[in-house]
Amino acid sequence: MLTKDLFATRMSRMKASEIRELLKLLDQPGIISFAGGIPDPALFPTEAFADAFQNALGTEKQAQALQYSVSEGYAPLREWLADHMRHIGIECGLDNILITSGSQQALDYLGKLYLSPGDTALVGWPTYLGALAAFNAYEPRFDKLSINGNRGAAEYAAAAGESLVKFAYLSPDFANPTGETVDLRGREALLDLAEDLNCAVIEDGAYQALRYEGEPIPPVLALELARKGSIEDCRTIYCGSFSKTLSPGLRVGWVVAAKQVISQLVLMKQAADLHSATINQMAINDVARACFDTHIPMLRRVYGARRDAMLDALVEHMPKGVEWTKPEGGMFVWVTLPKGIVGSDLLARALDTVKVAFVPGQAFFPDGSGANTIRLSFSNSDEATIQEGVRRLGEVLRA
Ligand SMILES: Cc1ncc(COP(=O)(O)O)c(C=O)c1O
Repeated sequence: MLTKDLFATRMSRMKASEIRELLKLLDQPGIISFAGGIPDPALFPTEAFADAFQNALGTEKQAQALQYSVSEGYAPLREWLADHMRHIGIECGLDNILITSGSQQALDYLGKLYLSPGDTALVGWPTYLGALAAFNAYEPRFDKLSINGNRGAAEYAAAAGESLVKFAYLSPDFANPTGETVDLRGREALLDLAEDLNCAVIEDGAYQALRYEGEPIPPVLALELARKGSIEDCRTIYCGSFSKTLSPGLRVGWVVAAKQVISQLVLMKQAADLHSATINQMAINDVARACFDTHIPMLRRVYGARRDAMLDALVEHMPKGVEWTKPEGGMFVWVTLPKGIVGSDLLARALDTVKVAFVPGQAFFPDGSGANTIRLSFSNSDEATIQEGVRRLGEVLRA
């Protein structure tokens, strides 16, 4: 029998994701789930995708659609993306864009590119679980990135000791799991910090397009470009995704960065999976061109109303001592429970007694703190269900 001691040391740090385990619960009848941070399938642009796949397979494009293609990604999609990035303040060429199999793959590659065992990655406390999982495989040490906090470069360097700080990772718009946004000052301060530490910035823009109120804040990469004039001089690496806007199942994401970074990531892609599925990239390209500009306002309206329903229901049903964030976009509200209430215990009880699911917050903290936090997602339930689910949660909390 093959024994576990043959596994590489990196495997000791990799554990099953609580979220993945929880997603299995979605199939149980009667469960109200605020667990997965997933888009509502009823909102997928299904007809546009049907046309796009028909177009890819029913025309002279089929040979290309089913064939191997270049690692950098389908050129027409990269052209659309260059245009899209320009609209959000990032001027770049096709050579600055790599298509990945979801932005999750980009996070894995960036961990692989920057982290040797023992190197330091600065991450939010809490931070996106999938980023922690991706980076963990490269055996880093994590330190707490405190944006707008009072930790300067000297403190980070002192805490790192012999270890090199390689990058700061953040999701500046409507972060997973907190829903919080980093303001302009925080973004500028982060760039200053990265200059002082001479490290990269990994900007995760997974929810960037999903703003329901307030004015958009320029991406960190746009701010750095304004400082430096050329993307080739920038240390920020932008990761984008179609998962939250068009479809997560097709697994299409992208990275925008200086050519010297992209060329290294291309080498990784060649070694890992050669390229992302050609036909999926073609379909995303068609659908993005056909309806991205009308689809996003619709998503903002629907998800915005769900966010409002969740915030209203929390005001109505949460007992005293419970606090939560008020996200301007994205899919999540982050709830802090009174000290002593443990999120995972509450989940067990909520599932058992009132059939409500959510994600306990502890898994999002690299040091296992945050036991009294939970993440609620409002994206995949209608307003009445949200109202009812939060009412039931309030009932359990009061009990
Ligand atoms: C902040 C963040 N980044 C990246 C991802 C990965 O998305 P995908 O690989 O589907 O693009 C997710 C998915 O939930 C996310 O929440």
